[in-house]
Amino acid sequence: MQWGLENRIRRMFPGTSGHTVMLAVDHGYFMGPTHRLENVGKTLEPLLPYADAIALTRGILRSSVPPATTVPVILRVSGGATILKEDLSHEALTASMDDAARLNASAVALSVFAGAPHEHESLVNLSKLVDEGEARGLPVLAITAVGKELEKRDARYLALACRVSAEIGAHLVKTYYCDGFSRVVDGCPVPLVVAGGPRLDSDAAALTLAHRAIEAGAVGIDMGRNIWQSETPVAMLKALRAIVHEKATVAEALDVLAAARAPR
Ligand code: R5P
Repeated sequence: MQWGLENRIRRMFPGTSGHTVMLAVDHGYFMGPTHRLENVGKTLEPLLPYADAIALTRGILRSSVPPATTVPVILRVSGGATILKEDLSHEALTASMDDAARLNASAVALSVFAGAPHEHESLVNLSKLVDEGEARGLPVLAITAVGKELEKRDARYLALACRVSAEIGAHLVKTYYCDGFSRVVDGCPVPLVVAGGPRLDSDAAALTLAHRAIEAGAVGIDMGRNIWQSETPVAMLKALRAIVHEKATVAEALDVLAAARAPR
């Protein structure tokens, strides 16, 4: 792997665990000002010290993140659809590689819509990004989107979407947790991180999801709603870090959560 590309990837995997805790705040690009992400800068500020990378759009990066930040940036470069329409797969590339380089991104990310009306376009966009990324030493993270079709969150579908993304050249893949998740990981020849999906019933449920994903072979998490929609986002992020970086059990992570919540 060329030096620049590998260096950018390694910066998102600090420390010795070989794992990463990515914080996703890119939801506004198709959901608008979703709950707890109405003011991204305010939500992000206390969380930044505990994130190994942040995933967001260029608009939020420019408006809401101090340029002095040292946290690696994963720039979302696909979009063009909103939740107001049925077909979320109607996406195009919404930021150029030149802009990603100007913004000092450590990686670019796009959604891949396997099985959706615009599957073909999303896969061709991925191939273009990989070519441009290889030319500039910028890694590409493919996000296997499920959009409104949550029933697609099964191992057969996600394994296919992750594998196809890796075959086209994605350097990293993000997908959703499902039963039989190890099948998804085993079929994907590049590092895979897990998203959290919509807010679960409890912080414990989200910690369990992260723990199971890591046990199954995910190299980390790229989580949003289950962190910043938690009642205690910083404590939640610290508890997730214990699972991802320190091999904590769910019970141990719940202790971290409780300790981080305790008044000082
Ligand atoms: C969708 O908006 C993005 O790909 C999110 O970054 C991804 O779904 C991770 O966020 P969450 O954990 O909230 O699903």
